[in-house]
Amino acid sequence: MLLPAVFAASFALAQASADKTAADKRRSGYQDMGAALQKMQDDDTANPGMLFVQLGQQLWAKPAGAANKACADCHSLADMKGVAARYPAMAKDGDKPIDLEGRVRLCRTVNQQAEPLAPESRELLSLAAFVANQSRGLPIAPPDDPRLAPFRAQGAAIYQRRQGQLNLSCAICHDDNAGKKLAGVTIPEAHPTGYPLYRLEWQALGSLKRRLRNCLIGIRAEAYPSDAVEYVALEIYLMDRARGMVFESPGVRP
Ligand code: HEC
Ligand code: HEC
Repeated sequence: MLLPAVFAASFALAQASADKTAADKRRSGYQDMGAALQKMQDDDTANPGMLFVQLGQQLWAKPAGAANKACADCHSLADMKGVAARYPAMAKDGDKPIDLEGRVRLCRTVNQQAEPLAPESRELLSLAAFVANQSRGLPIAPPDDPRLAPFRAQGAAIYQRRQGQLNLSCAICHDDNAGKKLAGVTIPEAHPTGYPLYRLEWQALGSLKRRLRNCLIGIRAEAYPSDAVEYVALEIYLMDRARGMVFESPGVRP
């Protein structure tokens, strides 16, 4: 198949140019995986996330809600290129930032006037994966929007703060001990390069929020409610920390 080959080639090129920046030692979780899992991510016919992308493509074209409009009636696919690589962003007329899933949910209720899509539902994740896939191979490029700054600072503070019964911060694992093993698992640098992604442990596609929940539960901290601004703040911080890295969705992780 020509298309995956082209994608793989552009991905390899983007990685190569990232490697050229000698000072940039950041590693995506992709680079911490074994060859078999890397191959699974790279091969569209083997990457389970691509099934969700295909489902998302069908949903994209399907009219829904009282407005009886499909995503495709209001958006060209070309307009979606690069969008996932710069979210979370401020919602127009809103005072809070939203992540990509939040944006899709908003279009669903406000623009399609349809039933809300439940967090982590198959439909929501598929639509998000389809949109995210349009940014695959592009550099992560958060917007320079001053309204995001306080949320980024909030995310950075959460990242540095010790919490949970284990009294650990994200930074202790993902900055100070990245690359080391924890119970046989390599601790990655926690870059949000691949979301939504297919995690073998979940046997499903999942959002970055779900991944963050997993880490909070891992340190026996109380996870935030699913619509908490804390998650979006952490996402903004992590995307900024990964600025310039290659966006990979749908990623595969162990
Ligand atoms: C005790 C160490 C530890 C702490 C503390 C921790 N994590 Fe993690 N985190 C991990 C491990 C280990 C993985 C990889 C899990 C796996 O593959 O099973 C991971 C995975 C991740 C990933 C996925 C990276 C990828 O490649 O997809 C992100 C993002 C992340 N953590 C963010 C956070 C954030 C934010 C916090 C703080 C709220 C945090 N983690 C706290 C150990 C930790
Ligand atoms: C009736 C028209 C309409 C429909 C239907 C619609 N949208 Fe939107 N969408 C918009 C408008 C208008 C905006 C820009 C709003 C803004 O600037 O905040 C937008 C913004 C977006 C964005 C952010 C784009 C960016 O550049 O930041 C995404 C992603 C998106 N929509 C996805 C979807 C998906 C997925 C669906 C189907 C589930 C959908 N939209 C259905 C009108 C629509």
